Amino acid sequence: MPDLGETQNIVHRYLSARVPLIVIRSIEPNRVRGLLGSCAASLRAMAFYEHSRTEGLKDLLTGQPVSDDFSLTGALEQARTTFKSRTNVNFVFTDVEDLDQESSTSRHFAEMVRLAEGRQGSIILVVQKPVWTGLARLGMSATLDLPTTDELFDALNGMVDDHRGVVVPIEWQYEHIRRAAEILSGITEMEAINVLATMLAKGRLLVDDIVELSQFKDRIFGDLSGIERITLRENYKVGGLKNLKRWLVQRERLMKSDLSQTTLHPPKGVLLVGVPGCGKSLSAKAIAAQWQLPLYRLDMAGILGMYVGQSESQLREALETADRVAPCVLWIDEIEKALASGPGDSGTSRRLVGQFLYWLQESSSKVFMVATANEVTSLPPELLRKGRFDEMFFVDLPDAGDREEIIRLYFSKYLSYDLAPDLCEELVQASEGFSGSDIDAVIHDIAVHQLTDAAGALPTDLTVKNHFATVVPYSQTNSEDVAAIRAWGLSRCVPAGEPRDGGSAPGASGRRIVIF
Ligand SMILES: Nc1ncnc2c1ncn2[C@@H]1O[C@H](COP(=O)(O)OP(=O)(O)O)[C@@H](O)[C@H]1O
Ligand SMILES: [Mg+2]
Repeated sequence: MPDLGETQNIVHRYLSARVPLIVIRSIEPNRVRGLLGSCAASLRAMAFYEHSRTEGLKDLLTGQPVSDDFSLTGALEQARTTFKSRTNVNFVFTDVEDLDQESSTSRHFAEMVRLAEGRQGSIILVVQKPVWTGLARLGMSATLDLPTTDELFDALNGMVDDHRGVVVPIEWQYEHIRRAAEILSGITEMEAINVLATMLAKGRLLVDDIVELSQFKDRIFGDLSGIERITLRENYKVGGLKNLKRWLVQRERLMKSDLSQTTLHPPKGVLLVGVPGCGKSLSAKAIAAQWQLPLYRLDMAGILGMYVGQSESQLREALETADRVAPCVLWIDEIEKALASGPGDSGTSRRLVGQFLYWLQESSSKVFMVATANEVTSLPPELLRKGRFDEMFFVDLPDAGDREEIIRLYFSKYLSYDLAPDLCEELVQASEGFSGSDIDAVIHDIAVHQLTDAAGALPTDLTVKNHFATVVPYSQTNSEDVAAIRAWGLSRCVPAGEPRDGGSAPGASGRRIVIF
């Protein structure tokens, strides 16, 4: 993707070569005007005129109006007489309609280009859409893409510097402005400046304000095609999964670092497979919340269910949107539901797998993918090959130490009290085979029981133990499924929890909930 400097060089060369038609495609006419201004300043031997419907025809360098007639026809007439009387003159047109197809306007321009050619003149068209090929073939074209992260950084840095120390207290330093530029990448320079101005209008610019940037960006994009923004409401707490948490610390650093001066790639993401109800979906939310990044969900199954041919374009659009809203966490829940290969497979799901893997490999934006899967045996093997995701973790039923953590977590959440060590020890034993979700549900039940108890008394130890005793965990009702998932996962993935033999003894004390 060429940056402003490269596009400027190309245009400068076209002008020096006296190419009679130069088409510059961009959605940012102001930046193109700046680029042309720099070219005009260094090509002083030539004259540059610019026409827009709001300002009419002006000298590009001095801004002096050339005529009272603001119309396009008037400007074209002026160009015709100028080309006939002088050489090396350039006319820039910024907002001409109907150039994308054969029309009287595009034919008129083609005629003018032929006239310019004989007089060493150039017509420069600044357009958003490609122009009609009959016209485009008469000249050369260039594209000015959206600003790169470095260019946004320069724009934001300049604006922050203007305000620093004057009226507004500003906490942002180099690395914060770099992060802001990264978050805002994918929008125009004008939009980025507007976002920053809106933030400065609060009368301060704090480090914590950076979180707000992605909300502004979402608003700018409006309709997020193919992906859904998930609102993160709480401080998600995940018990256990220590190995995964350790691994994530490094990835967070990579996601948040400025990699532009390094040869490092941003992380691709993680696949979490394992027993239902043990914290896979919860982890996706916890990662985004802890990293202070927006969370988007990609509904693969919904995409697969579309009409023939629509699925592929919808997936492409969704992944492009994810690239634009980066840095973000992109969550694909129960990926096997959409990508499982099996009998009756129409071929669409295979193509989607290919398309998805290609993106995973090629995309260099900071999109951290968290994919989860319960039914692992049906996952396509190419998805699981080394190097697709950064890592595949197996999320198992919590061991004794993890159960203690989860039990304490939900007692504190639903009942606001700390468990006595003896009772806790007993509950850890009683909850062998429980998933995190089973533990959450039973403690929630106990809290509901307390609420509906006429006296409102805290539940006795006996009541608590009785509740635990009545639970039939998922791992028991679906023991064969769970055994199959464990056999598969333990042999292929890295354990998300502490490895079993090195794990703590049941009820080991001193454990803390790790919030991540
Ligand atoms: N390790 C855990 N720590 C805390 N809560 C958990 C844990 N595992 C499961 N839960 C509870 O169970 C619920 C369901 O877990 P979820 O993450 O959706 O399971 P799955 O692994 O099937 O995606 C969570 O919302 C949370 O309340
Ligand atoms: Mg889930």
